[in-house]
Amino acid sequence: MNTQFAIRNSQFAIPVGVFDSGVGGLSVAREIMTLLPAQPIIYLADQAHAPYGQRPLAEIRTLSEGIARFLLAEGAGVIVIACNTASAAALHGLREQFPAVPFVGMEPAVKPAVEHTRSCHVGVIATAATFQGELFASLLDRYAGRVAIHTQICPELVPLVEAGELDSAGARSAVQRYLAPLLLAGIDQLVLGCTHYPFLRPLIEEIAGADVAVIDPAPAVARQAGRVLAQQGWLVEDAASPAHQFYTTGDPTRFQVALRDLLDVTTDVRQATWQQDNRLLPVR
Ligand code: DGL
Repeated sequence: MNTQFAIRNSQFAIPVGVFDSGVGGLSVAREIMTLLPAQPIIYLADQAHAPYGQRPLAEIRTLSEGIARFLLAEGAGVIVIACNTASAAALHGLREQFPAVPFVGMEPAVKPAVEHTRSCHVGVIATAATFQGELFASLLDRYAGRVAIHTQICPELVPLVEAGELDSAGARSAVQRYLAPLLLAGIDQLVLGCTHYPFLRPLIEEIAGADVAVIDPAPAVARQAGRVLAQQGWLVEDAASPAHQFYTTGDPTRFQVALRDLLDVTTDVRQATWQQDNRLLPVR
């Protein structure tokens, strides 16, 4: 597989594959576009199955595997799992299954939060599946030390972001409800442990108040993607604007609107469909 990528590398730019259950991963794609403006991206939103957060880990693993195969077939070299939930469920398994493919995963940014807290209380908001995965347990083992980590699942937030409700009365009351116990506990760092949440950041910051630092790992993930691309010799540095490709397993028109509203990107969105045997195919 490496040889194949190396030959293609000498002739074409190798796109970065990026995936999420929906629009959340666009918060990571946005950082990749900023940091690596010449790098083409193939983005897959599995909106037919969004949200992932309440699904069993085994199901998320099967979906992630189908998506990885799809992105590789479409020409991706590196794959960024722009989803904490899919990373928690599938990163380890994907690396085992595709040993020649470099994967960049995500995890809640507990380490910097612990380093910066002065109150010794850190809040982490994420999906139920992210907190269940071994990845989160190992983060706590490695970094929490004597700092109290207060976790909160926020099941209403992903559907709100998917619906483009970033500042509605419903969004406001949900964020207030989810943050209340964390603020009461005295957190001074709040980790956004789901890639949908950065789109609610203005609201979250307003409700959390100026004493709480909000941490989004997306810029660090983009930097890591850049390092991995450079190691592979796939970093595209010429200035021509790259042709990104966007796919959804949901409604392409709806995703096109989200792209415009969230990233200010106007482009075609293509449909991909799940087959009976868990393969994902583009609709040509
Ligand atoms: N954006 C994803 C995450 O980072 C998935 C959220 C969901 O689909 O529940 O966890």
